[in-house]
Amino acid sequence: MAHIALVGAMQEELAAVLACMPDAHCETVAGRDFWLGHWHGHEVVAVLSRIGKVAAASTATVLLERFSVQRVLFTGVAGGLARSMKVGDVVVATDLLQHDMNASPLFPQYEVPLTGRAFFATDPRMTQALVESAHAVLGQVRHAHEASPFLSLQSIQNFGLQHVQVHQGLVLSGDQFVASAAESRRLQQALPQALAVEMEGAALAQVCHDYGVPLAVLRTISDRADDDAHTDFTKFIQEVASRYSAAIVAEFLQRFT
Ligand code: ADE
Repeated sequence: MAHIALVGAMQEELAAVLACMPDAHCETVAGRDFWLGHWHGHEVVAVLSRIGKVAAASTATVLLERFSVQRVLFTGVAGGLARSMKVGDVVVATDLLQHDMNASPLFPQYEVPLTGRAFFATDPRMTQALVESAHAVLGQVRHAHEASPFLSLQSIQNFGLQHVQVHQGLVLSGDQFVASAAESRRLQQALPQALAVEMEGAALAQVCHDYGVPLAVLRTISDRADDDAHTDFTKFIQEVASRYSAAIVAEFLQRFT
C-alpha cells in the first residue's frame, strides 16, 4: 500500500486522526511531530503543518525527503468565497493558486516565478476518490435524524448542516486570514472562479509538483471570509470541522487503493 501523508493545519483535526491510529509512534523533525502508523491498511504519516504557506511548504518537504511519502492528503478549513459556498459545505480542490503571489512586471500576477504557472493541479484520481468520500459522509449528515457517528444532532442543527454540499474547483491560498467582506469581494472580482480561500494548499501543491508527488486537498467551509469570519471560524472548528474531516479521510482510505 502507498505510504500516504495526512496533513492538517489544526490540532483538533490531528487529534481526531490519531484517535484512529492507536499504533502510531512519533518522530520529531524540524520542530514538528510526525506520527507514523496504520489506518485502514495504509501506512500513514500524520502531521500538523501549522499555519501559512511557509509552514506548509517546509512540512511537505520533510514528508517527501525524510519520510518518502508517495501521496499527500491535506485537510482543513477554508473561508467560502463563491456565493454558493455555505458554512459546513466541503470543497475538494481541483487546482490551487497563491493569491498573494505578485512578481509583476517581471512575471504575470499570480505566476510562481520560473515555474511558468499560477495554477497547480491536484491529482485527479485522489481528488475523485475524495469527492466520492465527501458525498458519502455528507449524505449521512444531511439525513441525520439523530446524532451521526461523528456529529451531534445539536451541531447539525446549530450550524444548519441539513443541506450541506460537496464542491470541486479552484481554491486560493495566501498568508492572510480573510476576515472582511471588502477583501473577500476583491478576491472574488480578481478570481471569479475561486470557490474558497485558505492559507496552505497552494504551497503544498507547489512542493508536491516539484517532487512529482500526487496531492489532494479537502477543505470544510468554516466561515464566509467576511466580517464575521473570526467568530464563525473558532466556533466551527471546535464543534464540527475536525470530526467531519476525520470521517471523510476514513472513508477515503477505505476506498482508495
Ligand atoms: N481558513 C478558514 N477560514 C479562512 C479565511 N477566512 N481566510 C483564510 N483562511 C481561512
